[in-house]
Amino acid sequence: MTVFAEPSPTATALLLLGRGSDADSERGVDCPGDLPAPSDPDLVARATAAKEALGERLFILGHHYQRDEVIQFADVTGDSFKLARDAAARPGAEFIVFCGVHFMAESADILTTPEQRVILPDLAAGCSMADMAVLSQVEQAWELFEAEGIADQVVPVTYMNSSAAIKGFVGRHGGVVCTSSNAKRALTWAFEQGQKVLFLPDQHLGRNTAVLEMGFTLDDCVLYDPHKRDGGLTSDQLAGARMILWRGHCSVHGRFSLDCVNEVRERIPGVNVLVHPECRHEVVTAADYVGSTEYIIRTVEAAPAGSAWAIGTELNLVRRLANRHPDKTVSFLDRTVCYCSTMNRIDLPHLVWALEELVAGRVPNVITVDPQTAHYARVALDQMLALPAQ
Ligand code: 13P
Ligand code: SF4
Repeated sequence: MTVFAEPSPTATALLLLGRGSDADSERGVDCPGDLPAPSDPDLVARATAAKEALGERLFILGHHYQRDEVIQFADVTGDSFKLARDAAARPGAEFIVFCGVHFMAESADILTTPEQRVILPDLAAGCSMADMAVLSQVEQAWELFEAEGIADQVVPVTYMNSSAAIKGFVGRHGGVVCTSSNAKRALTWAFEQGQKVLFLPDQHLGRNTAVLEMGFTLDDCVLYDPHKRDGGLTSDQLAGARMILWRGHCSVHGRFSLDCVNEVRERIPGVNVLVHPECRHEVVTAADYVGSTEYIIRTVEAAPAGSAWAIGTELNLVRRLANRHPDKTVSFLDRTVCYCSTMNRIDLPHLVWALEELVAGRVPNVITVDPQTAHYARVALDQMLALPAQ
C-alpha cells in the first residue's frame, strides 16, 4: 500500500521577505514604495477616500483568507475561482486590486481584458504550494513519462493554486484546471480523456478526491517527488498508477493532524468537524464534512443555532465565521495559531499605499502574464469552465 509521508522542504521554499524577483516562481519582492505606518490612525479614512476618488475605475477583490481590515474594503469576496470570474465580469473597471495571492492575480489577468490592470498590493504575497511545482520540474517529469512510453496516457490536471506557467503547461498538454469545489468533475473528465492523471501541485486534494469521491484506492496513487531522480518512482510504479500525485501541499492545511480531530472531539462533545480537502488524507477521513472554502461558509450558515463546529481551514476565515454566527460554537481545529502568512502580507498599509498610488496616477505592482503562457493557461481554464455540471 502507498503510505503518505509528509514532503521534505523544497528547494524553492517561499522567500517571504526576499529582495529581487524570480519570474519562474511565486517568490516575492519587497514593496517598492513608502508604506504608511501600521499605527497610522487615519488608515481607514485614507483607504475610504482613495476608493471614493477612484470610483468605478476601481474594483477590489478579497479572498476569504484575507484580514478583516482588508476585507472591509473589498467590493466582492470569494474563493480563488469565484474571484477570477468576478474580475472577468467587470470589464469596465480599469484597476483590479487583488487582495489575495500571486497565482490568483495571475488568473485574474488571464481572464480580464488587455486594457485592465491587475494589482497585487504586496508582491511578496505568493503561495508556498504554488511554488512547489516549477515549470522546469514539470517538464522534466513529462520527459520521464515520454521515456517510459506513458505520456500519451497521462492527462495533466492542475489545481487553481498553481502558477500561470503550470496552467499553461497543462493547457498545452490537453489538460484542465480545477478548484477544490470541482475537482471530482475535472478528474472525471480527465479519466474520460486518458488512463492516468498527473495531478499538480496539491497531493492531498488529488488523493482525497480520487480515493474518497471516485472509488480509487491508495494503491492506485503514486507520489512524484520532483527532488528525486525519476520522481522517486520505478517504471512499474508509473505503469501501474492511475493517479500520479505531485509532491506539493499547503503549509496551512497540511498542519492539521489526526490528533487535532481526536482532541477536539474530546474537548467539545457533539462537535462537527469540517475541513478543507487540502488537509491530509487521514484528517479528511476522520472529519464529518469536507469541502471547499465556499462549501465551508455555506455549511456553517445553514447549520442550526446551538450546533458546534471545529473547522480546519485558514484562521482569518474561521474567526470571521465565529463572529458572524454567535449563535453557534465555531472553533479552530488546531489549538495553535495558523494564518496563511503570505495571504497576511496584504494588510491595510499595503492596500492604502496601492490605492493612493493609483490616485496619484501611478500603477503599482501590476501582475502580467506573457501572452503565450496566458493563451495556453486560458485553454485549461476554459476547459474547466466547460466541464459538465454534476
Ligand atoms: P480556494 O480559494 O479555492 O478555496 O482555495 C483555498 C486556498 O488555499 C486558497 O489559497
Ligand atoms: Fe497557498 Fe495554502 Fe496560503 Fe492558500 S492557504 S495561499 S494554498 S499556502
